[in-house]
Amino acid sequence: MVRQSWRFACVFLLLLGFVGVAQAEMTREEYAIKFRKSSYSVLGWYYGSMHRVIKGINPYDQAAFLRDAERVAFLSKLPKDGFIAGTETGDTKAKPEIWTKTELFKEDNDRLESEAAKLAEVAKGGDFNLIKEQFGKVQKACKTCHDDFVKRKTE
Ligand code: HEC
Repeated sequence: MVRQSWRFACVFLLLLGFVGVAQAEMTREEYAIKFRKSSYSVLGWYYGSMHRVIKGINPYDQAAFLRDAERVAFLSKLPKDGFIAGTETGDTKAKPEIWTKTELFKEDNDRLESEAAKLAEVAKGGDFNLIKEQFGKVQKACKTCHDDFVKRKTE
């Protein structure tokens, strides 16, 4: 009787283990979607931090702003790596056009990368008016791609 319950306990624990492994494992496609969404979230965090300074909610601090601008310049290069084949559908807001209008998607990516790199340059100078103007261009680069390639809630 005692041996029997041990056996049940072992089987039970084994099953629990399998459930754990199944949850931890993702397909490469699911991981790619998770990767690009996470990298956009990290990018959005530093972008938001600069946005609050531009809007006057937080005070302008040259060193802190430069740090955020440099992080956005680097982070803007990452998400595109997550748009691998087979990730057109799934838990994603990406429009399928990303995989057909590849030239336009590349253009939109390049625009963000170059405007973000310029913002990091301008941020070094510390001229707030120039920074504001260049931030507007980064903002526009985000919006352009979102208009082109991100599904709205109603779509
Ligand atoms: C080249 C196109 C492109 C550019 C440029 C772009 N995005 Fe996105 N963004 C996307 C796509 C596509 C998604 C949807 C990803 C998905 O759901 O798989 C997205 C999703 C997001 C998300 C949601 C992430 C999530 O967890 O679902 C945030 C936040 C975001 N972008 C912020 C930004 C910000 C801030 C910028 C500018 C600094 C920016 N994006 C520029 C294409 C772009």
